[in-house]
Amino acid sequence: MTKKRILTGHRPTGPRHIGHLVGTLETWARLQDTHECFFLVADLHVLTTNYHPEHLQENILNMMADWLAAGIDPNRSTIVLQSIIPEHAQLALLLSMLTTVARLERIPTYKDQTRELNLQPSTGLLTYPVLQTADILLYKAQVVPVGEDQLPHIELARETARRFNQTFGKTFPEPEALLSNAPRLPGVDNRTMHTSYGNAIYLRDTPEETTRKVMSMYTDPTRLRATDPGHVEGNPVFALLDIFHADKAELAELKSRYEEGKVGDVEVKRLLASSLNTYLAPLRERRAELFNRPKLLMEVLYSGTVKAKFEAQHTLEEVYEKMGLLHSKSISEKALARDVSGVFC
Ligand code: TRP
Repeated sequence: MTKKRILTGHRPTGPRHIGHLVGTLETWARLQDTHECFFLVADLHVLTTNYHPEHLQENILNMMADWLAAGIDPNRSTIVLQSIIPEHAQLALLLSMLTTVARLERIPTYKDQTRELNLQPSTGLLTYPVLQTADILLYKAQVVPVGEDQLPHIELARETARRFNQTFGKTFPEPEALLSNAPRLPGVDNRTMHTSYGNAIYLRDTPEETTRKVMSMYTDPTRLRATDPGHVEGNPVFALLDIFHADKAELAELKSRYEEGKVGDVEVKRLLASSLNTYLAPLRERRAELFNRPKLLMEVLYSGTVKAKFEAQHTLEEVYEKMGLLHSKSISEKALARDVSGVFC
């Protein structure tokens, strides 16, 4: 049986944190056993909300090093740099003809972002989900692993595939979202861990940085002394221990001591720091090695992109044909046959 095809990706906004690791990267690494995977470095999508040309390349390298260290395997999967393949932008333009402005204005990520940004949204921000739809349909992906916030975008991709197929003939599979069941991790300040909140523990952090961040974490706000009964529920230190501490029996015992007021926050945090550092050690070693070889990382990225380019070109030719457009291949073939005039009738 042929494997189903996956396309998913991240915007290269910088190094990945432990929330990315347990929320997505570990799942992606596993999915490589059962699916044909395309992993997209969505650098065009970054430009919808900010442009810092001086950081973009470094952010891509950081993300690549994290992806590979977390087990994304370029020998089995295809890693694609979005901006190098113009077909992403071309297909997005063509699909935008099938998408109303009102439909895009209703998408929650757009509504939230425009409220947050406090400025006039660009056309690029409005059509962000159309570009994402193009990313998926360009490779005729059947499965798209994403977090919950991305579901409205996948819904648009499904609708667009349906509309295209109805209008121009069966071309695209309707992509299915594969929802990550990993919880969102709390950051050191107990808000959701997020690069832009400055509350993240990064895969590339040293053990010392990790320990320092953990020791500064919020715990149970109702607890003043180590002898007060503590709360485990809603306590970010325990939320992370649940994921990263291997010895579940020891953790259960620690929780009951905490609830009885028999253990201080410092001891609990020390345990978390050491669990995290143990969990991350092998990944960090691979990560450091990879990050020191930027040329290798770029080669991996380019060779995946070259592979993807063939697929992208093929789909775009098909779409051009179905939409009644002429693609350059047909023009150059006719031109070679010295039959240019025939091209236009
Ligand atoms: N919008 C996604 C995010 O912010 C990134 C992305 C771009 C993506 N293109 C995609 C995810 C295609 C899945 C499929 O996380």
